[in-house]
Amino acid sequence: MSSVSAVPNTPASGSTPTLYGGSSGRRVTVRDIAAAKARREKWPMVTAYDAMTARVFDDAGIPVMLVGDSAAMVVYGYDSTLPVTVDDLLPLTAAVVRGSSRAMVVADLPFASYQASPQQALETAARFMKEAGAHAVKLEGGQRVLPQVELLVSAGIPVMAHLGLTPQSVNVLGGYRVQGRGQSGEELMADAKALEHAGAFSVVLECVPSDLAQRVTASLSIPTIGIGAGPDTDAQVLVWQDLMGLTTRPAKFVKKYFDLAGEMDRAVRSFADEVANGVFPAPEHSYS
Ligand code: KIV
Repeated sequence: MSSVSAVPNTPASGSTPTLYGGSSGRRVTVRDIAAAKARREKWPMVTAYDAMTARVFDDAGIPVMLVGDSAAMVVYGYDSTLPVTVDDLLPLTAAVVRGSSRAMVVADLPFASYQASPQQALETAARFMKEAGAHAVKLEGGQRVLPQVELLVSAGIPVMAHLGLTPQSVNVLGGYRVQGRGQSGEELMADAKALEHAGAFSVVLECVPSDLAQRVTASLSIPTIGIGAGPDTDAQVLVWQDLMGLTTRPAKFVKKYFDLAGEMDRAVRSFADEVANGVFPAPEHSYS
């Protein structure tokens, strides 16, 4: 007999449909995400940039994967998200779609690919949907991108919004710092409500005080996805290289669940030592 776990964040084995760990045999949709908010299910989102990693996360039941413009740093080695282009991100997005079968794959629209006009946003988003098979797009900003959100949604493209620390605006923000303290918290709240009204299906809150994130979450009927926004958002997102311990000097909000850099270091040194000592390849790795 199956039973539904009493632990909210554990995949259910019973009949209750869950966003995290549910086995529907089809892609997660915006309707599933809205239903999770209605039943107050908390859910995880991770970034992904290649097919094999996407398959691992998909098999683990992660319902939403973001092909973030953080690829600029963790894939391409830049020191900000600004240099990465649509042409850089399209093949990564296509790989994540090919590597997964259940997760909704959200493509991040990179810097200067949507800000100029709603038409520019539509052309860019359409490339991610048509050429890479993305199921939704994400863009950064509040009031100033409302016309973009409205046009995309009216064209049938689900939009994930992103408020708080918006890394594409790092030069205006004056660094990677907490946003929304004091009066600017009320502006962020107004932005979040306006984005919901414009049709966004979810909103990322990055590096904002926990009490503000809690208030925004309680005020919206669409889910909030926190990163450095405390425990009360509907979902949590981390860059996978951060949570796996591959990143050097991660932010305060990162919890390291694995020492991937250390494990890789040990493994590659073992390989190198065995090659140097003539231990690898052994007979079982050789053809007769
Ligand atoms: O690009 C990214 O990875 C992101 C997440 C950190 C939300 O925008």
